[in-house]
Amino acid sequence: MSLTRGLASRLPSALPLVAKAPVVPVVVIERLEDAVPLARALVEGGLPLIEVTLRTAVALEAVRHIAAEVEGAIVGAGTVVERAQIEACLEAGATFLVSPGTTPSLAEAFAETPIPVMAGCATASEAMRLAELGFEVLKFFPAEASGGVAFLKSIAGPLPHLRFCPTGGIGPANAPDYLALPSVVAVGGSWVVPADAIRAGDFGKVRDLAKAAAGLKRAARFG
Ligand code: 3PG
Repeated sequence: MSLTRGLASRLPSALPLVAKAPVVPVVVIERLEDAVPLARALVEGGLPLIEVTLRTAVALEAVRHIAAEVEGAIVGAGTVVERAQIEACLEAGATFLVSPGTTPSLAEAFAETPIPVMAGCATASEAMRLAELGFEVLKFFPAEASGGVAFLKSIAGPLPHLRFCPTGGIGPANAPDYLALPSVVAVGGSWVVPADAIRAGDFGKVRDLAKAAAGLKRAARFG
């Protein structure tokens, strides 16, 4: 099948999902036993949307456990880079998908996916192409390395309809600057799930970081 304008418009929108919290934690699970307590801490802290990156051997099992056991969690799979991963994510119970970038064949596969997708892009042309296909919320990645807030401000003039979840290099210091932009519906980041806290089983720290992140104000409107 070839890609045509609006192909992805039958995709469920990611907007209602990102409306739920200003920050999407980007989680790397090394030990499966950390998945459920980590997700519980994030939900308790007010961040129900959780992106589990497919970068570790246990990532899909982590998605499966969080989906089955953590009430209130909305768990998705990140670092989706090829179509072969999509079926496994769906089977594990992922409720959304995220990619760091989007090849034409990945876009085609996403367009047939029955759950919301935040497709990755880093340039104006990539963002325009994805919007043209019907993707509503784009992951801007790697945000800081690709021009950050200045880039998003610059393209909001000619392309005011684009909506982003910037990720990559974002932390408590610069998240408010991103969230002050009307085009930024949420930001993604790993700062709320520090590897050392997870290793130490310090889920209280994760909950506190999540609570602070959940309180961030954003300018985007969802209604
Ligand atoms: C991602 O996969 O989105 C990034 O690795 C997260 O970036 P960060 O670690 O800089 O927040």
